[in-house]
Amino acid sequence: MGVAAYDAYADWYEAYASDTANAYQTQVRGRLRDLLGAGSGSCLDLCCGTGLQAAELRALGWRPVGVDLSAGQLRHARPRLPVARGDGAALPVADASVPAVACVLAHTDVPDYPAVVAEAARVLAPGGRFVHVGVHPCFTGAFADRSDPERIVIDGGYADRERSFRAWSPHGVRVRVGAWHVPLADLLNAVTDAGLTLVRTAEAGVGPVPDLFAFLATRPN
Ligand SMILES: C[S@@+](CC[C@H](N)C(=O)[O-])C[C@H]1O[C@@H](n2cnc3c(N)ncnc32)[C@H](O)[C@@H]1O
Repeated sequence: MGVAAYDAYADWYEAYASDTANAYQTQVRGRLRDLLGAGSGSCLDLCCGTGLQAAELRALGWRPVGVDLSAGQLRHARPRLPVARGDGAALPVADASVPAVACVLAHTDVPDYPAVVAEAARVLAPGGRFVHVGVHPCFTGAFADRSDPERIVIDGGYADRERSFRAWSPHGVRVRVGAWHVPLADLLNAVTDAGLTLVRTAEAGVGPVPDLFAFLATRPN
């Protein structure tokens, strides 16, 4: 199993991210809600962290079950949903067994996100839904200076895929745990390479330039 970078920051993350009423988290939840839609049965909350999305999944009718690499994060998640410790790139879940998978704000936390998408596709039942909500691959990352929300400055680091601790804000997650970058083409190719069908995409954010990119993909019947 990979290294759990969040173990050292789980208490900090719980305090930092649990203001779920803020504008950013409201946008995140909105994309999750719109793309996943109502349903029943299990929804695998992939890289569930402290379980912040569990309430939204439940409100949609799903039964959230979380998987995360970090024991520290799962300690906070446990009161919010049933969880298992596991690697998103090698899920402890049977083939074709769940009707929905959601992965929220986590693709920059794994060294090989295409492997995680492939695992999501493997565990999805035919017709099942996979929803990804993540930081926008074009406008958010080590390569993007977002200090002026009206004028995002992108530098040549867009092409770099290695983990970086460079961040425009000294207050957020990235200066602590770092981030991998998945360029837009790599992200979308991961979906089709996994055999999923891209159904819908969305961009959103709190400023004029989107800082979130999300999509719904389904496993063909
Ligand atoms: C920014 S947090 C997001 C958590 C949650 N989805 C949310 O919306 O708040 C990213 C999470 O991804 C988890 N993670 C990183 N690599 C992982 C992996 N290989 N398998 C499972 N979880 C992983 C981290 O431990 C962390 O809890």
